[in-house]
Amino acid sequence: MRKGGDSFDLARAMRELPLAVLGPLLGLPEGDRPHLGRLAIAASSDDDPDAEGALFAYLDGLVRERARERGDDLVGTMLGMRHEGVRLTPSAVAANCHRLLLAAAVTLSQVPVATVMELSDNGGYAAWAARPDLLGSGVEESLRWASPTRCVVRTTRCPVELSGVVVPEGQVVVAVLASANRDRRVFADPDRFDVGRRPNRHLAFGTGAHHCVGADVARFALGLLFTELFAAYARLEVVGQPVRMRSVFVDGVTSLPVQGRPRRAPRC
Ligand code: HEM
Repeated sequence: MRKGGDSFDLARAMRELPLAVLGPLLGLPEGDRPHLGRLAIAASSDDDPDAEGALFAYLDGLVRERARERGDDLVGTMLGMRHEGVRLTPSAVAANCHRLLLAAAVTLSQVPVATVMELSDNGGYAAWAARPDLLGSGVEESLRWASPTRCVVRTTRCPVELSGVVVPEGQVVVAVLASANRDRRVFADPDRFDVGRRPNRHLAFGTGAHHCVGADVARFALGLLFTELFAAYARLEVVGQPVRMRSVFVDGVTSLPVQGRPRRAPRC
């Protein structure tokens, strides 16, 4: 499928996805969204040490402005919230927005990228595109497959027994979610992308008290994204080398050249 078709960089295109979701939720001005998306992704990798501060400064300014005239978006809602009877300060609201943007930026955009890489390899794109009934299970499998948050870190507050090993108090423990999502005791044939996999008890969103607050938003956005992708392209193939992101925590790709065969426009 090298001749003809649309050639583009899927990883670059997907950078817009997190802000397309969070921009309207937080009421971020449309013109600023591309810049904020770039800052949020840079702040989550090890590439640009100034990006995190620049993003916080922008959000702090925006929230202070909104505190004077509150809207009905998520920023306005947070500004009206109370924690133990006390209103959240603008700085606390800005910190929450910052966390939401950082948490969404690299994770969400990486799921379609990792999925298309695999579907291009195994030739499964067209088969999934032809099965809209498998959208939900396919999204879950793409989350398991991509596991963009590679690991989470905890410190033990007391001795903990894990699979017969006692981890003493005060130890740093790294839980590798990407590895858990390939556990053959939980997933049959874990190295196979199975679009109809059920059950699929993956840990892509973590677990416990810090389970991802954006999980439902992410699932919804990925469902829409794959629906649009399948509607636009009958085939989508990787045609160049991916460029990997430099990050310990995020399994990411910053560039992925692809070529898509657009579907014919329906005849009227
Ligand atoms: C496919 C997309 C996503 C993946 C794979 C993902 C993954 C995760 C994981 C593994 C955690 C747990 C971190 C820990 O235990 O330390 C987490 C937490 C979090 N996520 Fe997501 N996330 C995604 C999308 C989003 C989105 C879209 C948002 C915002 C709307 C978001 C906001 C958050 C926040 C604020 C936390 C912290 C929750 C807490 O500490 O209590 N995430 N996410």
